[in-house]
Amino acid sequence: MLEGLIVLERSGAPLPEQIYRAVGEAARVGRLRAGTVLPSSRQLATGLGISRNSVNAAYELLRADGVIAVRAGAAPQVVARAELEAAQLDEAGPGIGLSQRGRALARDLRQWQGGRHAGQLEPGAPDENLFPADLWARTLRRVARQKFGDAANYADVDGLPRLKLALADHLARHRGVSATPNQIIMVPSIQAGLSLMAHCLADPGEAGFVESPGYFGARTAFAGAGLLTKALEVDAQGADPAALAGSGARLVYVTPSHHYPTGARMNLQRRMDLLEAARREGAMVLEDDYDSEFMWQGRAIAALQGISRGGEVIYFGTTAKSLLPGLRLAYMVVPEPLVGSLKQAQRNMGLRVNIHAQAAYAELIESGALVTHLKRIARLYEERGRLLVQTLRQRLGDSIEIAMPMGGLQTVIGFADSIDDTTVAARLAKEGFETPALSSYCAGEKRKGLVVGFADATEKRMARFARLLEGLLD
Ligand SMILES: Cc1ncc(COP(=O)(O)O)c(C=O)c1O
Repeated sequence: MLEGLIVLERSGAPLPEQIYRAVGEAARVGRLRAGTVLPSSRQLATGLGISRNSVNAAYELLRADGVIAVRAGAAPQVVARAELEAAQLDEAGPGIGLSQRGRALARDLRQWQGGRHAGQLEPGAPDENLFPADLWARTLRRVARQKFGDAANYADVDGLPRLKLALADHLARHRGVSATPNQIIMVPSIQAGLSLMAHCLADPGEAGFVESPGYFGARTAFAGAGLLTKALEVDAQGADPAALAGSGARLVYVTPSHHYPTGARMNLQRRMDLLEAARREGAMVLEDDYDSEFMWQGRAIAALQGISRGGEVIYFGTTAKSLLPGLRLAYMVVPEPLVGSLKQAQRNMGLRVNIHAQAAYAELIESGALVTHLKRIARLYEERGRLLVQTLRQRLGDSIEIAMPMGGLQTVIGFADSIDDTTVAARLAKEGFETPALSSYCAGEKRKGLVVGFADATEKRMARFARLLEGLLD
């Protein structure tokens, strides 16, 4: 059967490369599924009428890429597809098509139902009306008149020293992060940072763990860099590190302080176990602290980075929840030994952040205006979160599970296993609600429910949503 997928051109690239490309491509687009047993090198060589050495060389390249597994005495087997995430790949148009790397990068694992970012109660989207527009405008106006010297050109590409100084202090006070300003690298978004780390700290075919349910952005970043994404199951205590043992993981993505999307908070024992397991595997933990600056229930638990020994966690923060996703202003705290290389990689990938936005953000931190803003949005989002939970509990009672969120902008409505959450989400999307199925966030065991944002929750909107959901669950 493999012969049909491989069309050799005698005058084309070397034969091993042609076989390697054809099989790799077939695995990527799902024509060869994980588990498929391939012919032995002898059988394939005979079938194609070429030397066995050429087939062996191709199989070796495929093995190195993590596309197939080759075990002594057994036939080679496809392993890549199931773990590399199925994706709708665009057919390359005429002319130059996407490279294999490009195809991996062009995947979209989000399952938006109502078109992209189109609906109400969308998880994770802040309320634009809460953006402190006048303050930001005044601050920007001031900083845009300043002279930045070399930083206006090509110095300090990793971030303005003034902002890194302010952030190091802010993160220590508010998130328990332990960092010198030198360890901070500014990036346009957490997404950019995760992608950068997936490319810099792991090779294609190596394993990266992502929470399940978990954030699409992390899965996309890992898949885009050719990693095998594996699931770390999440329960009420957050991500369970048990699956890490002996996995050879290179990267572990977690949201320990406020799990996305369930809101679970990882307890101290789990945190210690996770750090220990990552150390044993030689894996780097990528801590996404996307919305913990404005938790409202109790004090936010300190960041994992602060209790690590210093070398095994990269911490990510963003303004995408506290201010606006469109600002493109985020940061990473990286271990000291990696600072030089990662700064250079950030520069080489062109991930520099606008200097005026950086300077304005520094001013908000220094003046205390950021903390005032965070307190304000925490109060307002708390009211909206309560409204969502109360309305749904009143209307739907025991037919759903919903816990009061501790912060952030979204929560999960849990369904019984028998309910097809994808259909429910699709029907709600038709009514204008972008509340994706919980099962679509699960790389491992599929949990049923909806992920619901509440930044734009109003009484009227919630009442309509609860009424529709009740009808759908009946
Ligand atoms: C868990 C999580 N991390 C990060 C982000 C986005 O951050 P950024 O826009 O900086 O990539 C989101 C946005 O939805 C998120 O839900």
